[in-house]
Amino acid sequence: MDPTESDRIIPATTNHTRYQSIGPTGPEEQASPVQHKVGAVALVAMAVLLFSGVVVCGLTATDDRPFFNNGTHAFAPTVIFISLDGTVNQDLEFHITPVLSAMADNGVRAEYMTPSFPPITFPNHWSLVTGLYPEAHGIVGNYFYDANLNDSFYYKSPDKSWDSKWWGGEPIWITAVQQNKKSGVIMWPGCSTEINGVRPSYSVAFHDHVTADDKVDQVFDWIDLPLEDRPQFIGMYVPEVDQSGHANGPYANEASHFSLHLADQSIGRLLDGLKQRNLTDIVNVIVVSDHGMSATDSSRLIYYDDVLTQQELDLIWTIEAFPMLGIRPRLDVDQDKAVETLYQAFRRLYDSLETPHFKVYKKQDFPDRFHFRDNVRIPPLLVLPDPGWNLITHKDYRGGSPYQPRGVHGYDNLSPESRAIFVAQGPNFPKGKTATPFWNVELYNVMSRILNLKPASNNSTLNGILDISE
Ligand SMILES: *[C@@H]1O[C@H](CO)[C@@H](O)[C@H](O)[C@H]1NC(C)=O
Ligand SMILES: *[C@@H]1O[C@H](CO)[C@@H](O)[C@H](O)[C@H]1NC(C)=O
Ligand SMILES: *[C@@H]1O[C@H](CO)[C@@H](O)[C@H](O)[C@H]1NC(C)=O
Ligand SMILES: *[C@@H]1O[C@H](CO)[C@@H](O)[C@H](O)[C@H]1NC(C)=O
Ligand SMILES: *[C@@H]1O[C@H](CO)[C@@H](O)[C@H](O)[C@H]1NC(C)=O
Repeated sequence: MDPTESDRIIPATTNHTRYQSIGPTGPEEQASPVQHKVGAVALVAMAVLLFSGVVVCGLTATDDRPFFNNGTHAFAPTVIFISLDGTVNQDLEFHITPVLSAMADNGVRAEYMTPSFPPITFPNHWSLVTGLYPEAHGIVGNYFYDANLNDSFYYKSPDKSWDSKWWGGEPIWITAVQQNKKSGVIMWPGCSTEINGVRPSYSVAFHDHVTADDKVDQVFDWIDLPLEDRPQFIGMYVPEVDQSGHANGPYANEASHFSLHLADQSIGRLLDGLKQRNLTDIVNVIVVSDHGMSATDSSRLIYYDDVLTQQELDLIWTIEAFPMLGIRPRLDVDQDKAVETLYQAFRRLYDSLETPHFKVYKKQDFPDRFHFRDNVRIPPLLVLPDPGWNLITHKDYRGGSPYQPRGVHGYDNLSPESRAIFVAQGPNFPKGKTATPFWNVELYNVMSRILNLKPASNNSTLNGILDISE
């Protein structure tokens, strides 16, 4: 992203920049015996529910008083939500993530988590925190045109992407602030945008080349704040695994595994710091990815300009997605006619290939299971390649040098290569359990339950409770 977005750590609503550790500031920091009792009751209720075979995320207490105490300080329910962009679920099997493995032993790992469609960064980071499908929250891609607004969203330019008009739904950090709780967000897509006139209590705008360790330090600055200032929801975004996956390719690629290993070590620093503060059984840590990644190669290219005529290609105004081609015709031609012409052109391409490795759909025929139709921002023609395949023109790649990028995501969200990770530990998760696969839109409700928040409208179906299989 663009370094002009910010190169400093800026909390949104206070004058502080970095916080020093602050000890107990007064009697309100010490939990009273009554508060202990609330905690005990809630824990018993949780134990009973655990017995019935579900992961219970959220205690039954409706009481807002903090009910944890680490020996010196009172704590309200807390979630640290970390995204390791582009981490393939299968990569957790390769013994390069000892910290995440230990977390899974001490908590819950999902068999896998299904990203929302399209499995790309901005749509999924917004689904993770709003509980809405991209068609419902409106961030349908990293780049898209909105005919009602007559304007385009482009994720890399803040003046094009930070405007509230683009961002539908209510992220958990806004739900928290609206219900009088604090939230802090580090570089999560959308965190610099005002939603319903509200911002997170603290936020750090995106800036590339900030290490995960620096972000962990920021998390501790927030955790060490006095109770009344301390955020209960903390979000942290880590882009390095995705960047390496695009450049080097996923799956047992040494360079990509090295960045995953480094990210794992940073999470290790976080868990160590929590342990030092006697917070392991008080603070929930949830680590996810937004999507997986597929390896691409020059042997899996489809040159669509081999079959589409220049006249047909000239009808195209924008291609708003990759590797799926989200095609929008030029605005000065009859839209329905142009879509029909281009649809027939891609059918011709399909028929010309022995094994086509892609499908073409008019938007209204895109299958239900993608939940990707109901938004004016979705282009009228969608050409979806098989995992690992790319639809390009001869101008895009002429051969010779190795095809770049070597890793691509954004394919069918149900393909195994698209699968995202979910690992969590803390007081709201049982130990050593596996969650059956679920869609990432479930997590908004899961976190709402833990934080005792009334959720906004969402597309969750599990009511904030994940199933466990063993
Ligand atoms: C750590 O926290 C637990 C409650 O979670 C408490 O019982 C214990 O006394 C604390 N330990 C120390 C050393 O303060
Ligand atoms: C949309 O905006 C462009 C400039 O960005 C302008 O040329 C065009 O006339 C606008 N179209 C409509 C329908 O307002
Ligand atoms: C409890 O947490 C606070 C805030 O992070 C920390 O300063 C304190 O040292 C912790 N107490 C113990 C007993 O570890
Ligand atoms: C998703 O949630 C939004 C907001 O409540 C709703 O409008 C939409 O119909 C839901 N989508 C589905 C497929 O249930
Ligand atoms: C959102 O989730 C909550 C909790 O599961 C549920 O009660 C509510 O019906 C959901 N809202 C919508 C609009 O789906």
